[in-house]
Amino acid sequence: MDDTTKSKLLKAAQSVLGNAYAPYSGVFVSSALIDDKGRIFTGVNVENSSFSLTICAERNAISSAISAGAKSIKGILILSSIGAIPPCGACRQVIAEFSKPETTVLLASKEYIEEEWTIGALLPSAFKLLDKSENKLD
Ligand code: THU
Repeated sequence: MDDTTKSKLLKAAQSVLGNAYAPYSGVFVSSALIDDKGRIFTGVNVENSSFSLTICAERNAISSAISAGAKSIKGILILSSIGAIPPCGACRQVIAEFSKPETTVLLASKEYIEEEWTIGALLPSAFKLLDKSENKLD
């Protein structure tokens, strides 16, 4: 991924961090991704008083992108208020669903991109169903 795209993703994630809803953990997280059409989508973590209903920032960004017609992820950035954090296991699986193993995953603090990974390195041997082509809307 080129530096211009990286800095676009960082700016996009920074711009929505204030929308994160994290009154329970105090860990504010935002995410920005670029899709197959070059569009950028964002998401924030949305916590709940019933803790297990919390949704992570990157999963919300992915849901927004897919809802708007994205077919795949070209790269995704995760930013947190406590410094760069790796995506949780559930989010790794969801990122892998729409990625190739070489898809870039960037981890950022509020100011800077601190780490660059691929989803294949974060989740080797991801579970995937081989053929999704049979179940398409006519
Ligand atoms: N969180 C994310 O948004 N993404 C991750 O990959 C790790 C964790 C959120 C969930 C919860 O609101 C807070 O960080 C603390 O776990």
